[in-house]
Amino acid sequence: MNVADRATAGFRQRYGVEPAGRWAAPGRVNLIGEHTDYNDGFVLPFALPLRTVVAAAPAPDGRWTVWSELDDEPVEFGAAEADEPGRVDGWAAYVAGVVWALRADGHDVPGARLAVASDVPVGSGLSSSAAIESAVLAALVDLGGLDLPAERWPRLAQRAENDYVGAPTGIMDQSAVIRGRAGHALFLDCRTEEVEQIPFDLDGARLAVLVVDSRAPHRHADGEYAARRRGCEHAATALGVTALRDVPVAGLDAALARLGDDETRRRVRHVVTENQRVLDTVALLRAGRVRDTGPLLTASHVSMRDDFEITVPEIDTAVEAALSAGAYGARMTGGGFGGCVLALVDAGAADAVAAAVTEAYAERGFTAPGTLTVLPSSGVTRLG
Ligand code: GLA
Repeated sequence: MNVADRATAGFRQRYGVEPAGRWAAPGRVNLIGEHTDYNDGFVLPFALPLRTVVAAAPAPDGRWTVWSELDDEPVEFGAAEADEPGRVDGWAAYVAGVVWALRADGHDVPGARLAVASDVPVGSGLSSSAAIESAVLAALVDLGGLDLPAERWPRLAQRAENDYVGAPTGIMDQSAVIRGRAGHALFLDCRTEEVEQIPFDLDGARLAVLVVDSRAPHRHADGEYAARRRGCEHAATALGVTALRDVPVAGLDAALARLGDDETRRRVRHVVTENQRVLDTVALLRAGRVRDTGPLLTASHVSMRDDFEITVPEIDTAVEAALSAGAYGARMTGGGFGGCVLALVDAGAADAVAAAVTEAYAERGFTAPGTLTVLPSSGVTRLG
């Protein structure tokens, strides 16, 4: 059964009636621009064909009940629990967080029954959390007829994650999941939230993006992510700028010379050069030079490995094996310490590159990776 049918069937079975509608939101990968979003910088993610679907209908008692195929027990909560971050935990916190963010923004959120099914793997760094937040947000906005323009959705979904769930993430994931467009990468200025849809025509260039799920156990990912973010904020303060976005590449050496320790210098160098790599990638894509972006992707990986220090052995192995097998570029995508790698490859070579990565994993005794090729797909939609 496909994911939309699973959500519908789950809804019927759990609640004994038909849903009023179904809303689908994708996972995402980031083509380039890592740990730049919370530094007010640039990112270039795209939405995946893998989606989370929420089937929903209004609940007259004004409460929220959520069932997920991942967990047979439904979770029920009312306004009191939604208004107190932390009261609802586990996967349902993403749902309660959206209710919380909408109520905090002054909306009269309709009570609802929801059923969730998903093809976005959880814990792989493909933004399963942004997918469920965004699908639930779209459902509640529609069911309640709420006056909330779509440009404001990413910020609200991010607030659900930051303030209710308690993860200090940036605006990239929710933006990609909500504003992504088929055949395009989303060039986002995270300071102004201005977006430009950049044509990313893989088929036309006879190329493919291979995504490798490293299956690496997440090693202290949450704590390390928060530490990187704090480190960047301290560095910006030390340099007297609002955010590291304000350090131009041309001023990098001068900025580094003003910083006391080597670790901070390397963190800053990653962010400043990564912002420039996003701009350079966008320029190449605008010129239709998709293949030529490969070296920028690889340089981004090297910067994450050596300067930002957020990669792990499985991830580095996947990148090296993909490059040795002929990928034009390869890099970790997402927050780091596990998650996925993406590689830009000839369309006809995707299977061979995937096999080479799998073999390199076996040689090192790692758990076999997952592999799939993906095309940029559309953001959150109502299915009917
Ligand atoms: C995670 C966060 C994003 C972003 C990336 C790193 O995916 O949710 O906001 O910071 O890490 O680029």
